[in-house]
Amino acid sequence: QPVRLSQYRPPDWLVDTVHLDIRLHHSATRVIARLAMRPNPEGREGSPIVLDGDELVLKSLALDGVPLAGTSYAATPSSLTIFAPPQQPVTVEIETLLAPSANTKLMGLYRSSGTYCTQCEAEGFRRITYFPDRPDVLAVYTTRIEAERDEAPVLLGNGNKVESGPIEGTTRHFAIWHDPWPKPCYLFALVGGKLERVADSFTTATGKVVELGIYVEPGKSGRAGYAMDALKRSMRWDEEAFGCEYDLDVFNIVAVADFNMGAMENKGLNVFNDKYVLASPETATDADYANIEAIIAHEYFHNWTGNRITCRDWFQLCLKEGLTVFRDQEFSSDQRSRPVKRIADVRLLKSHQFAEDAGPLAHPVRPNTYREINNFYTATVYEKGAEVVRMLKTVLGAEGFHAGMDLYFDRHDGDAATVEDFLACFADANGVDLEQFALWYSQSGTPELRAETYWNEAARTLRLDVEQRLPLTPGQTDKQPMLIPLALGLVGPDGADLPLTLDDGSNAERGVLLLRQPKQSFVFPDLPHRPVASLNRGFAAPVKLSSNLTTDDLVFLARNDADPFNRFDAVQTIALTHLVTATQALREGEAAPSPAPLVEALGATLGNGALDPAFIAQVLALPSESDIAREIGRDVDPDAIHSTRRLLRRTLGEALRPALEAAYSHAAPAGGYSPDAASAGRRALRNTALDLLAATGTSADIGRALTHFDAADNMTDRFAALSVLAHAAPPDREAALAAFYDRFRDDPLVIDKWFALQAQISEPGTLERVRALTEHPAFAMSNPNRVRSLIGSFASANQTQFNRPDGAGYEFVAETVLTLDGINPQVAARLLAAFKSWRALEAGRAGRAQSALRRVAETPGLSPDVSDIVGRALD
Ligand code: ARG
Ligand code: ZN
Repeated sequence: QPVRLSQYRPPDWLVDTVHLDIRLHHSATRVIARLAMRPNPEGREGSPIVLDGDELVLKSLALDGVPLAGTSYAATPSSLTIFAPPQQPVTVEIETLLAPSANTKLMGLYRSSGTYCTQCEAEGFRRITYFPDRPDVLAVYTTRIEAERDEAPVLLGNGNKVESGPIEGTTRHFAIWHDPWPKPCYLFALVGGKLERVADSFTTATGKVVELGIYVEPGKSGRAGYAMDALKRSMRWDEEAFGCEYDLDVFNIVAVADFNMGAMENKGLNVFNDKYVLASPETATDADYANIEAIIAHEYFHNWTGNRITCRDWFQLCLKEGLTVFRDQEFSSDQRSRPVKRIADVRLLKSHQFAEDAGPLAHPVRPNTYREINNFYTATVYEKGAEVVRMLKTVLGAEGFHAGMDLYFDRHDGDAATVEDFLACFADANGVDLEQFALWYSQSGTPELRAETYWNEAARTLRLDVEQRLPLTPGQTDKQPMLIPLALGLVGPDGADLPLTLDDGSNAERGVLLLRQPKQSFVFPDLPHRPVASLNRGFAAPVKLSSNLTTDDLVFLARNDADPFNRFDAVQTIALTHLVTATQALREGEAAPSPAPLVEALGATLGNGALDPAFIAQVLALPSESDIAREIGRDVDPDAIHSTRRLLRRTLGEALRPALEAAYSHAAPAGGYSPDAASAGRRALRNTALDLLAATGTSADIGRALTHFDAADNMTDRFAALSVLAHAAPPDREAALAAFYDRFRDDPLVIDKWFALQAQISEPGTLERVRALTEHPAFAMSNPNRVRSLIGSFASANQTQFNRPDGAGYEFVAETVLTLDGINPQVAARLLAAFKSWRALEAGRAGRAQSALRRVAETPGLSPDVSDIVGRALD
């Protein structure tokens, strides 16, 4: 029963207005929904009314005010059909009964530490009432919420509040919210609870005053200031960068402790995982602050890209997600350092999306079939989806891109749109054909680009040969050549770029060559000297590039390239090549390659006082163990990778000691803690230096980490030191872990860091430690943040221990997935996706991973979520 894009049909019935009356109660919430429906002129004539449900209990049903006889409808927990409705506008009134406290899936209406809240995307609204739960049914909602005043003094809904007050003669009260903007039901939300409010306001470009509120657990309002600041900056930025102004009188955000994802863009009432709202210098790291800023912006930006223009169906998820990730990346780039943000985004893209694209869970940015849509909130839809939008901008130029965006907002405001609609706006606004470009949405797999440059000394020309290849991926064996924008520069001996004039006299416009064929050649004539080609600048195309650049060329680029991303990337390429070669040498008992070029490139970077400390810190951070595994690609031995990388870190710590010590002592930001990007960059450099020095293992270096840990006045420094100590000898490690726990025992978000760090210790005792921690009073299988911190980190960030040669890591994760599946299938399925790279492992481990997956697959009663992932992983 997979859903297919090709089978899309418009809905048979539309909903114009929805009136909800919701009486909150922990075990018996009564929901009365009054739907004004009418036959869709574009649907099939004479159709019954078929509504979706999920675990619903129907209490009563009326059509146009008349209770329906049992023979004229059929109700199950998962659907409600009214057989022969009159083919004219009707009012359907439905009463259902819910038990929010028993809702452990955290979809629909549930309770998080006593607060009533909802999550409806993608298909959670059907757990609240029967409804045509699909994004192309847009309606205007009015919501009346009623609750015990003591239990839920705060009652929030979508849109603007129109009325509220006590219910005379009772202990209850109510609030009525009205949202004037038609929306799909996945954007519905309500919240009821004892919450503290942080208030502010924002005046829009046209002078409208918007009331802003961030609601948090009592006692936590002191930690919402940064989120509020980020919200106001987001609102301003969207007006300036995209001409998008806010469209309601109120914008509310609620932070809850139990949440399946990061956050949700419900109209006028965003609901957030508290991890992405709450921050204080003592409890949040610089990375947490950056994530809060990005996610606050992301959800806010959805108001236009997602809400005002929504998706026709869930295959179009990237239409809102890829575009909105692109927008939040641009926001953070403007607020912080653009090159450093790009490096961080590409690191994430490679580690998550490239890994997904290389394994059995690979799928196109716009999938054409799914069994469970919740499993498609992936790095491919989000991050690769954002890269595709970025490429549109690279191909069309900033002006052409914005002309397309303007047309998109203009033409599709109020629509449930498709990827084709989106692309047509860019094609029309620029008078271009984007047919080949559209393959980025339909073809999965990371394109491989081979670039070779040949210098002709006599003719003074440089020839560039480029070949593109698309690897085969699940369900796709016939691949077409893609339109790949290759951004490049020719770097002359003095570091300055040479002109990009081709032999036909044309210019690579804006430094970009458009590749369209499997193989292409370009000749650059009349060059004064042999240049070094700086390829795929800014990582403009999300491809795997290999080239015939020599190590000397890369060292040259690391020192001279005008493109900061490629300076970084040159060092990464040297490091990755070294690590791959050294790993293979270790396995074959051969001599390791020399790290000298890497030491030289890193030394040059560290010694360059003109560079941004945050940038230097990124250059110093070696490719991760999974990056190395992906580069090796097959017959992977995680232990060999780990030893090789550890040895290299030690070598670098020793070879770069004076420069690292200087960076450590000079980089400290002055004054008290501030989360701004410049201060964060200085801390990042200092902590990276601390870490590399400690990799040498001398007692003086461990002593430095201990002092850093004790003296820290903020979580960034304290946790960086703890991470160093967590890999030190057991006495120092255990003492530091215990001290950290004692200090933060009452702070679940900090204890998550403590769980995650322990789960990543690369030694055989870790599995037992993680098992024991599942019994820790602070751990709860019902809370997604706890599960992701402890079990998720073990499975995704501990390459050696998850991939233990005896298979015990796989067994543990599989077992946990099965337990969790009965509680929260969405989180269980996410955890299981940690197996996505199992096929690349050496035979022994691959066999054990496969058996663990088979045991999951053979378990009766799996959720659709887990069954879908395990099925594809084994396919
Ligand atoms: N639309 C949300 C975001 O990207 C994600 C919500 C996904 N939730 C889910 N249960 N699948 O910001
Ligand atoms: Zn989103």
